[in-house]
Amino acid sequence: MIKKLKELGYHNLLLPSSRELDLTQQTKTHEFLISHKPDVVILAAARVGGIKANMTYPADFFYQNILIQTNVIHGCYLAGVPKLLFLGSSCMYPRECPQPMKEEYLFTAPFEKTNEAYALAKAAGVKQCEFYNHQFNTRYLCLIPTNLYGPADNFHLEHAHVIPALIHKMHLAKIQNLPHLEIWGSGNTRREFLFVEDLSEAILHVLTSNITRTPLNVGTGTDVTIRELAQTIREVARYPGALIFDSSRPEGPPQKLLDVSNLSSLQWRARYSLQKGIEATYHWFVNNFDNARK
Ligand SMILES: NC(=O)c1ccc[n+]([C@@H]2O[C@H](COP(=O)([O-])OP(=O)(O)OC[C@H]3O[C@@H](n4cnc5c(N)ncnc54)[C@H](OP(=O)(O)O)[C@@H]3O)[C@@H](O)[C@H]2O)c1
Repeated sequence: MIKKLKELGYHNLLLPSSRELDLTQQTKTHEFLISHKPDVVILAAARVGGIKANMTYPADFFYQNILIQTNVIHGCYLAGVPKLLFLGSSCMYPRECPQPMKEEYLFTAPFEKTNEAYALAKAAGVKQCEFYNHQFNTRYLCLIPTNLYGPADNFHLEHAHVIPALIHKMHLAKIQNLPHLEIWGSGNTRREFLFVEDLSEAILHVLTSNITRTPLNVGTGTDVTIRELAQTIREVARYPGALIFDSSRPEGPPQKLLDVSNLSSLQWRARYSLQKGIEATYHWFVNNFDNARK
């Protein structure tokens, strides 16, 4: 997002790290927003992680996300920020959701258990934006991205999402000459993946348009099995070993695919294929191995 904004000539960017501004701290967050009065706030900060981290730390996922969102959204209101974009997540859709998932299916049935805390917190953020727009006439917009990946992701072996975790594991398996690599789940679940630069373009598209009706799904509109995904990463990483799928491990719902027709009708479409996105991400990881978040 930062790269894209700078390329387009936006230079007056406020980019505090979590060390400089911990958004779970209400007073500091409100003071920051009131003193700087930004024109637009893109709320991407969140406690984020893969299935294992979500299952191990549900209290952290709930508490931190609720605090970050509520402090930033209310702080924007107090500071008179006219426009905010909040990132929800496809995890907010019900576990038993019809596929592909349309925006109207939100809040119609219970969440997926493995990421319930994160989903509930994110869903509260979507509703909070809606309530503020209703009561205060603000323009607080929400996008619902599908699974994201790309350069500078979190490549932690235990806490990361599937693509960065697999890229890291596959790379280690290759340099250590391991004969096989074990992967959680049957490999048959279907998932959709969006390259991070496509999301940045979608965010800019929405913020620079007249769109007021959100939430809107952001994805590619196509999915792959985890087995196909792992094979793509194996080809890109040139790992010659075998892939072994461990069906005894949790793997979440059988399919998660967003219906992207609403955003498509507003003239936005993803540009990166999975192959192209994985190549860019893998090469970034290898070239930045020492400094990557892992
Ligand atoms: N990754 C996905 O597949 C996915 C899918 C759908 C939606 N999303 C949404 O997209 C957004 C970005 O996700 P991501 O995967 O890019 O996550 P990420 O790489 O973990 O980045 C999260 C960011 O949040 C910041 N942050 C966390 N806690 C903070 C705090 N207490 N105060 C200030 N900043 C804090 C971190 O800042 P520091 O680096 O300074 O610590 C970090 O830059 C999130 O809102 C997430 O819910 C992600």
